[in-house]
Amino acid sequence: MTPYGESFKGKKVLVTGGLGFIGSNLSIQLVELGADVLLVDSLIPEYGGNLFNIASIEDKVRINISDVRDEHSMRYLVQGQDYLFNLAGQTSHMDSMQDPYADLEINAKAQLFILESCRKYNPDIKIIFASTRQIYGKPDYLPVDEKHPIRPVDMNGINKIAGEWYHILYNNVYGIRACALRLTNTYGPRMRVKDARQTFIGIWIRLLVESKPFEVWEGHQLRDFTYVDDAVRALLMAAASNKVNGQVFNLGGDCVISLKDLADLLIEVNRSGDYTVQSFPPNRKGIDIGDYYANFSQIRSVLRWEPEVPLREGLTRTLVFYREHLEHYR
Ligand SMILES: NC(=O)c1ccc[n+]([C@@H]2O[C@H](COP(=O)([O-])OP(=O)(O)OC[C@H]3O[C@@H](n4cnc5c(N)ncnc54)[C@H](O)[C@@H]3O)[C@@H](O)[C@H]2O)c1
Repeated sequence: MTPYGESFKGKKVLVTGGLGFIGSNLSIQLVELGADVLLVDSLIPEYGGNLFNIASIEDKVRINISDVRDEHSMRYLVQGQDYLFNLAGQTSHMDSMQDPYADLEINAKAQLFILESCRKYNPDIKIIFASTRQIYGKPDYLPVDEKHPIRPVDMNGINKIAGEWYHILYNNVYGIRACALRLTNTYGPRMRVKDARQTFIGIWIRLLVESKPFEVWEGHQLRDFTYVDDAVRALLMAAASNKVNGQVFNLGGDCVISLKDLADLLIEVNRSGDYTVQSFPPNRKGIDIGDYYANFSQIRSVLRWEPEVPLREGLTRTLVFYREHLEHYR
């Protein structure tokens, strides 16, 4: 028995960003739970979408290659859906600084298109929005809870908080059931490893698997990490519960670790590998958030969610995946 019972069996589920890292892992679970899944993704090459991500379910889902910035597509696509997992997003912090308009359009304006479409054509839908810890900026205190001030240090954080609050506002004002999960560093099979756009762990893992040294910037920064299956479980639990409507929740990891210790752990799990410690590139330093880890007691008390996959185990599973499938992610 799953924690979500029969909530998804035979239900129509729309996943925006469904060919991406978290969206594809979620969709694989949804198919297993008997949902009728429609994936929407633009497959913009710089982002994490990859058709190989859904190779195991490609004949069990429908895929619509379209852009959430296309109001007309979204109007049509939300109709008749029971659930919307709203995961399409521009995720790179650096790219958000280099092209702030694209980040604004995708992470904020397109979210309004989606919500307006729901308000007009499907107000009974239940929506889960993938938000981010980036909205908090440099923490005043640790661990960061949901009451921490919002002080984003980059465009991505600003646009994501707008996207998040459009959802909460539509819940509060129009009664369209929505909640947001503020994800921390999420990792696992199907993440982008081509470069560091999505996560630095991606490029670390790729270089490790290729037996090349990777770079650790400074290394003392503390972080928490959520294995993707745990993030997916949180998304599903939130969708299946009406206790979460109108709320925001932090996700977190099973432990707190410095980046240098993470690098050492990865090498230990891989049984080989090497890295160099470098200072931060100046353009990254300006948007760095220093130490961050989440207090996730809110979601633990409301939904009884907590991370189940220990970091060492998650890294092991991730390395196994990329040793087998790296050719599809280069
Ligand atoms: N991975 C993390 O550590 C993390 C942390 C915090 C928040 N998040 C959030 O979770 C969500 C999913 O992230 P992910 O890690 O799976 O990244 P991802 O890049 O793998 O997935 C995002 C997907 O959205 C698609 N997409 C982007 N712009 C689009 C558009 N305009 N129209 C249609 N599709 C579009 C991309 O092609 C991609 O497949 C994002 O909203 C992200 O902000 C992720």
